[in-house]
Amino acid sequence: MRTEVGSHHEGLVDRRATPEERAEWLARAGELRSITVGRRVLSDLECLATGVFSPLTGFMSEEDYLRVRDEMRLADGSVWSLPISLFVPEESGVREGEWIALKGTDGVLYAVMKVESLFRADLRREAREVYRTEEEKHPGVALLYQNSSLRAGGRILLINRPDHGIFTPYLYEPAETRRRFAEKGWKRVVGFQTRNPVHRAHEYIQKSALETVDGLFLNPLVGDTKTDDIPADVRLKSYEAILKAYYPKQRVFLGVFPASMRYAGPREAVVHALARKNYGCTHFIVGRDHAGVGDYYGTYDSQEIFRSFTREELGLTPLFFEHSFYCRRCEGMASYKTCPHPSDDHVVLSGTKVRWMLKHGEMPPREFSRPEVVQVLIDGLKDKK
Ligand code: ADX
Repeated sequence: MRTEVGSHHEGLVDRRATPEERAEWLARAGELRSITVGRRVLSDLECLATGVFSPLTGFMSEEDYLRVRDEMRLADGSVWSLPISLFVPEESGVREGEWIALKGTDGVLYAVMKVESLFRADLRREAREVYRTEEEKHPGVALLYQNSSLRAGGRILLINRPDHGIFTPYLYEPAETRRRFAEKGWKRVVGFQTRNPVHRAHEYIQKSALETVDGLFLNPLVGDTKTDDIPADVRLKSYEAILKAYYPKQRVFLGVFPASMRYAGPREAVVHALARKNYGCTHFIVGRDHAGVGDYYGTYDSQEIFRSFTREELGLTPLFFEHSFYCRRCEGMASYKTCPHPSDDHVVLSGTKVRWMLKHGEMPPREFSRPEVVQVLIDGLKDKK
């Protein structure tokens, strides 16, 4: 039997089937009621099974779901800020107490789950509490409304791991990253979440953090994002390019984060931090509008939310950074905290503007993004046309 883990401090959850369990479940799969799940659920399954979402051992029961929604805590009191839910189609006939098979659209059996809780979620309430808006224009809320309000919770067991294609060489489980950091002698490790190429502002805050710790864990998210975000495969090439040209090899570790984006801003920032704690980070960077979208959240809401928890409860230290940019008068990277000059001197470009430039083969200024990165992006996006 595997050990179940109940708190952030005790260790990592492991819900991957052993070869014997796998053979047994594959043989029994035909008897189970089966649900077809999409890429987002596969991302959650992988994070649950490999300990990225420790202490969760499966999809949330009603009790956990409600407390997470209303108080950002699991039923046992530990910090958790986003519902991790399995949506069940109305016509599926799923019943409490049975084991179900979770299959991909490719027909592969990815996991089995014991349905310990079957409940109905109030979608508008969830949108309001978790996303701070009920508007369908918000991409996370739009996805929420598309799904059934019927949810099944229970422990999962991963039978087959989703295929990560070109990301496979950079896919490490938390147990492995912890081991690697220890081998490198890194005691203080800062984690960095991103769904973008590394621009100068990202590089600035990463390196500012790195000045005070032993290593940087660059952990780009490669699960589902909005369709207008830069595709993860192009981003991966851009990370390789910038690391090669501008980062000391012995101080940086690149590993992908298999989760999907929810764009829940502050609530997602907390889960991003907890996941990086699980990977073995002691610190986590939260900059401007972390995990935000449009203008749904205030610039520093994702930092302020951390006031609700103690450092002990989180198990790591969040590092907050102000909006950063290149300042022509300072002749270097700076932030509103360190630069006295007016905005006219700052090189600030919106994501939309940058994407437009890249799509039209235009180079954003080198003060905004390293030329090596820009070239990879222009080439990569050209191939996607
Ligand atoms: S996110 O959705 O993953 O947060 P993004 O990849 O843009 O989006 O950001 C990665 C991290 O860098 C986040 O912590 C974000 O707050 C921070 N960040 C991005 N741009 C800036 C900036 N110009 N100044 C300060 N922090 C920034």
